[in-house]
Amino acid sequence: MKKVLFAPVILAASLAANGVLAAEPAKPAAASPEMQQMMKVYTPEMRQKVMALSPELKATIQQLHAGHPRRAKETTLRQIMVEILAEYQTIAMAIAMDNPEAAADAARRLAGHRIPKGGLLPYFPLNQVNDADLGVLPAMNTAVEGSALKLAEAAEAGDMPRAASYLSDIMTGCVACHMKFRPATPGLSTNLISAPAK
Ligand code: HEC
Repeated sequence: MKKVLFAPVILAASLAANGVLAAEPAKPAAASPEMQQMMKVYTPEMRQKVMALSPELKATIQQLHAGHPRRAKETTLRQIMVEILAEYQTIAMAIAMDNPEAAADAARRLAGHRIPKGGLLPYFPLNQVNDADLGVLPAMNTAVEGSALKLAEAAEAGDMPRAASYLSDIMTGCVACHMKFRPATPGLSTNLISAPAK
């Protein structure tokens, strides 16, 4: 059956990891088919940076992508970020309104955000696309999305004070990642005379 060939790569990879597809061992070192596909839209400079990542870091990025099965066709990271902010605000609204269902739903939507066009990497500064800088991504992911999922569970268990406590854990993750990877001030204008350095 041809159909089998089109089975999601992620599923195949997880089956292989579980030893279910013993005849098909996981490919070591090389970028996954999905990553190779993403790299097709990268500039040569970006592609070089990604190729230079260690097999471990490549695997980490692939895991982060695999944890987010929704793929954007054209949406950029910034657009997804603003969606994520809207979910965060919805969670706060739901907690303030003592609405555990809405809080849990929004928290799961936040954790299940789309992966932007080309994956996460092209939206980071080129000089930070290296093992050392990208190595913090799993910690960021745990802070933001791990806490969002805990918030959803707490809300579903009817423990709204505990759910509320995870809001700050989530935002701590947002801020940490922005301090590392985002330009210091969003939306700076080149048409303004910059203030003298302090
Ligand atoms: C993995 C790192 C990372 C995490 C975690 C992260 N962000 Fe971002 N965020 C970025 C980067 C990088 C940009 C800049 C994207 C661009 O301009 O292309 C950004 C941009 C934004 C923007 C758009 C405004 C701007 O500065 O360009 C908003 C809003 C935003 N993030 C909100 C959030 C919220 C809310 C969270 C937590 C729930 C969060 N982000 C978590 C990396 C991250």
